[in-house]
Amino acid sequence: MQVPLLDLKLQYAPLKSEILFEMEAVADSQTLILGPKTEAFERAVAKYCGVEHAIAVSSGTDAQLVLLMALDVQPGDALITTPYTFFATAGCIARLGARPVFVDIDPATFNMSVPALEQALARTRKPKAIIPVHLFGQCADMQPILALGKKHGIPVLEDAAQALGARHPLGCAGAIGEAGWFSFYPTKNLGAFGDAGMVVCKDSVLAAKIRALRNHGMETRYYHKWVGGNFRMDAIQAAVLGVKLPHLDLWSAERRARAAFYRQEFARAGLSRLVKLPAESYATSGHLNHHIYNQFVIRAVRRDALKEHLTKAGIATEIYYPRALHMQECFADLGYSKGDFPEAERAARQSLALPIFAEITEAQQRYVVEQIDAFYAAG
Ligand SMILES: Cc1ncc(COP(=O)(O)O)c(C=O)c1O
Repeated sequence: MQVPLLDLKLQYAPLKSEILFEMEAVADSQTLILGPKTEAFERAVAKYCGVEHAIAVSSGTDAQLVLLMALDVQPGDALITTPYTFFATAGCIARLGARPVFVDIDPATFNMSVPALEQALARTRKPKAIIPVHLFGQCADMQPILALGKKHGIPVLEDAAQALGARHPLGCAGAIGEAGWFSFYPTKNLGAFGDAGMVVCKDSVLAAKIRALRNHGMETRYYHKWVGGNFRMDAIQAAVLGVKLPHLDLWSAERRARAAFYRQEFARAGLSRLVKLPAESYATSGHLNHHIYNQFVIRAVRRDALKEHLTKAGIATEIYYPRALHMQECFADLGYSKGDFPEAERAARQSLALPIFAEITEAQQRYVVEQIDAFYAAG
């Protein structure tokens, strides 16, 4: 049996005619960048998240970059984030000449450790922002993070690239802190037909600046108030995303159901000593979307050998992420060493993302767990 990590064709098939209709409308309009489709999608995302402003951009990476530019991040500024995230979180900081200050993760959730954040705040001079990442589709521990931001007078910016729709008791991912961003990379729960992203924020002055910076810092055509860039969303991406957004909660609910099924099968196999399943921090919060399972990430004993075994058995898996960011070659000049963030390093050695998507079958999931069981049974 073959089990892909994700099968986008299955999601596309039932929406094909609606999506093609909307794409054709864009083609007929020849309004290909920004325009009414993009504005409608911005309004839809703002409403969905319960946030005042949503600004459509060219990718999740560009969303973060343009937000940091709007906040006037300067060379030498320190921004606190975790070393266990997709590269862009720290890459955008470095691209502005600023300095990512890493704090370790909480081993249960892979998200920012609050005690580690507290320590970093005590030793970092005037950090410009705190950037928690809602990794794999579950929010970081936002209550104490916001309290620390308030205490130190610094904004909390949420990397919600993997978490559109995820709910924390304080609100929707991305809409809890001062600002946040989403990625619509095709593998996200809400995926475009290419690259696309969104910045969300509460402050109207900040939103207006982001809008201008998205388009080379122009408020009036060809009059440049700031040096911005081309971070505009294509209308065709907005059209596709606009068709998909109403389905997002259902897809996330399906993923949650698939996660529950994995739990049941793992419990039946009695693998708890060898495989640690993802924590659900907000399961009792009463919010359905307490986790949207963009990824179902386990920790596994002898992870690399297990991955190889699953590949041979036709099961696709992925390692998010094999090397923590403080150990990346391009960040050598930050001066970090091996051992500085033991939890992030351990996660990089142990984590393994299993196939999860709304349309995965119970037979496929059972086969995944059977193969994991067979691997450990063989010693
Ligand atoms: C945590 C995180 N931050 C940022 C990004 C960047 O988003 P994009 O790929 O749309 O540029 C991603 C995308 O994978 C991500 O997972």
